[in-house]
Amino acid sequence: MDRLELITDRGRCEIIVGAGALQVLAEPSTDSFEEAALIGDANVIKLFGERVSALLPTRMRRVRVLCFEGGEDNKSRHTKQELEDQLLFDGFGRRTCIVGVGGGISLDMAGFVAATYMRGIGLINVPTSLLAQVDAAVGGKTGVNTPLGKNLIGAFHQPQKVLVDPTFLVTLPESEWRNGLAEMIKHAIIADARLLSWIEEHAVRLRHPCAIEPYPLLRCLEIKAKVVAADERETGARSVLNFGHTVGHAIERASGYNVPHGLAVAAGMMTEATLAVRKCGLNPEVLRRLRGLWPALGFPALPAFGFDQIAPHLSMDKKRRSAELRVALPLRIGEMAGGAEGSVAVSLEELRDALEQDLRERG
Ligand SMILES: NC(=O)c1ccc[n+]([C@@H]2O[C@H](COP(=O)([O-])OP(=O)(O)OC[C@H]3O[C@@H](n4cnc5c(N)ncnc54)[C@H](O)[C@@H]3O)[C@@H](O)[C@H]2O)c1
Ligand SMILES: [Zn+2]
Repeated sequence: MDRLELITDRGRCEIIVGAGALQVLAEPSTDSFEEAALIGDANVIKLFGERVSALLPTRMRRVRVLCFEGGEDNKSRHTKQELEDQLLFDGFGRRTCIVGVGGGISLDMAGFVAATYMRGIGLINVPTSLLAQVDAAVGGKTGVNTPLGKNLIGAFHQPQKVLVDPTFLVTLPESEWRNGLAEMIKHAIIADARLLSWIEEHAVRLRHPCAIEPYPLLRCLEIKAKVVAADERETGARSVLNFGHTVGHAIERASGYNVPHGLAVAAGMMTEATLAVRKCGLNPEVLRRLRGLWPALGFPALPAFGFDQIAPHLSMDKKRRSAELRVALPLRIGEMAGGAEGSVAVSLEELRDALEQDLRERG
């Protein structure tokens, strides 16, 4: 099993990766938690609730399993309140540890409950989707959606532990698997040429959900942890993690969230990489490799939204400062433009030209 450590102003987070990582829950720990509450969506709790809660030390006074209906609409203030009310009603106190189990939605919800319950209590993350294992479980961003936008209400709250066990992944639906693959490729482009080659070499095996080896998970988590350690509160450098997401989010919104996140980000990375070739001197070979990856990984055709369709949806992007559109662009694999800013200013005309070129070249 591999272990990583993320140290931020908010404390120390231990990340354990490998088959059997979940067993760490059973280890006598130095943390002084007296009680635990598992939080996850109904689907993951049904699949894994028993397996996870059974591991919690018997010395705990109580272990409660709480679930909510999954889906972005339910990642809401209302759901948070319901979960909190259950904890309050049952008399859970400050020495409770929240164990978030599931994909990014479950972890965002569990984390936000932990961030504000009794002004902040312990948190352990058990990510079960690929997207959560390579991205959402680490970094301390928690939050919920509102009808006016996604992730607009939240808090930074670091988990003490993140247990990344790839054996969870085998039951993942194909579309969810691809959402995680897209983020893995994003991490490779922003920080690791070797990881990109690894993905290319293993593309056929990666077409379907499987319990992958720790290497790619570990690399993604190391990359995310390093970026977060340098800029926990996303004042600049952390925005490199948004590569592919400026356009990707606009595509999701333009489609009324009918295009899955992974496909939208895949298309976003194509357009933004095209922009990087035009504006930052990115080697066009990188674009060619990215283009080849999607079919190799068994992705369906990427969405092809025109500029007029996505433009109205760019404005709500969180990377936008004042009237500027800011985009995370690679200079080469492993190095992003903009230095400590993590992004560069892009005009709408530049984005339109790159999008049109990308769509032409994708055919
Ligand atoms: N906090 C962060 O830093 C961060 C980063 C990226 C994304 N996010 C958030 O994460 C969310 C997306 O996360 P997601 O893609 O994991 O979605 P999700 O949490 O909805 O999980 C996807 C689906 O897969 C199911 N599932 C999870 N693990 C499973 C397994 N092992 N077997 C079978 N089914 C399983 C879930 O029940 C759900 O139906 C978004 O809300 C996004 O905003 C947060
Ligand atoms: Zn994403």
